[in-house]
Amino acid sequence: MRKPIIAGNWKMNKTLAEAQAFVEAVKNNIPSKELVDTVIGSPALFLASMNELRQGTDLQLSAQNSYFENAGAFTGETSPAAIADLGIEYIIIGHSERREYFHETDEDINKKAKAIIANGVTPIICCGESLETFEAGKTAEWVEGQITAALKDLTAEQVSNLVIAYEPIWAIGTGKSATAEIADDTCGVVRTTVEKLYGKEVSEKVRVQYGGSVKPENVAEYMSKENVDGALVGGASLDAESFLALLDFVK
Ligand code: G3P
Repeated sequence: MRKPIIAGNWKMNKTLAEAQAFVEAVKNNIPSKELVDTVIGSPALFLASMNELRQGTDLQLSAQNSYFENAGAFTGETSPAAIADLGIEYIIIGHSERREYFHETDEDINKKAKAIIANGVTPIICCGESLETFEAGKTAEWVEGQITAALKDLTAEQVSNLVIAYEPIWAIGTGKSATAEIADDTCGVVRTTVEKLYGKEVSEKVRVQYGGSVKPENVAEYMSKENVDGALVGGASLDAESFLALLDFVK
C-alpha cells in the first residue's frame, strides 16, 4: 500500500560537474514514479542545476538539511523556503552526522520539520541509536524518544505524509548493516510510536526507511520486510550504476 522510497544521500561529496553527469546518467533509467519514489539527496549547492536537468523525468530531489527560518541574518544557513521555491521535494533532517558534528538537538529537528512542512516540502526525519545504546538493548526507547520529540505539535495529516528514516549509527558507512530483522523491528518501533501518538490510520500511512550500509546486494531483503518502506543510502548512492541497481527490486 505504501509506495517505496529509495533516496540517495550523497553527503558532502561530488562537484557540480559530477552531480550533473550523474543526473544525466540516471534520469531516464529509473522506474516510474507510480511504482517508487526515486530521490537524490544532494549538497544544496547543486540542487538548482540538478533540478533543471531532471525536468520532465521521474527523478526527485532532496536537500540534506535546512534551517527553520525562511530568511534573515543566519549566515551560512539554507532557507527551506528557497529550497521549496526551486521545486525540491524533500529535505533530510536530523541525520546522525548533523546531530553529532553540528550539535543539532531534537528541538531543532522539530522546528525544522515544522518549517519544512509549512513550505510544502516533505521532511525525511532521521533517527537511530549509537552502538552503546544498541548493545544496552535500549534501541526501542531511544528511537521512540527521538521520534516523539521530532513530531511534537505536528498534526495527524502532516505526519501521514512524512518520511522517517531509521539509521542505526553503528551501521552507517561501516559496511556492517543491520540484519533485515533488526531493520524491520526498529522500523516497526517507529510505526508503533506514530500509532501511539496519532492512531493506526496515520501509522499505516507514514513511510519508514532503513539506512545503514544498504547496497544493491541487500536492498531487496530490506524491502521485503513489512515495516521497511524504503532505504536511505549513502556510499552505494554515489555511483550511477550502483544507484540504479538499488532500484532493481522494483522490476
Ligand atoms: O543517510 C544515509 C546513511 O547515513 C547511510 O550511509 O554509506 O552506510 O549507506 P551508508
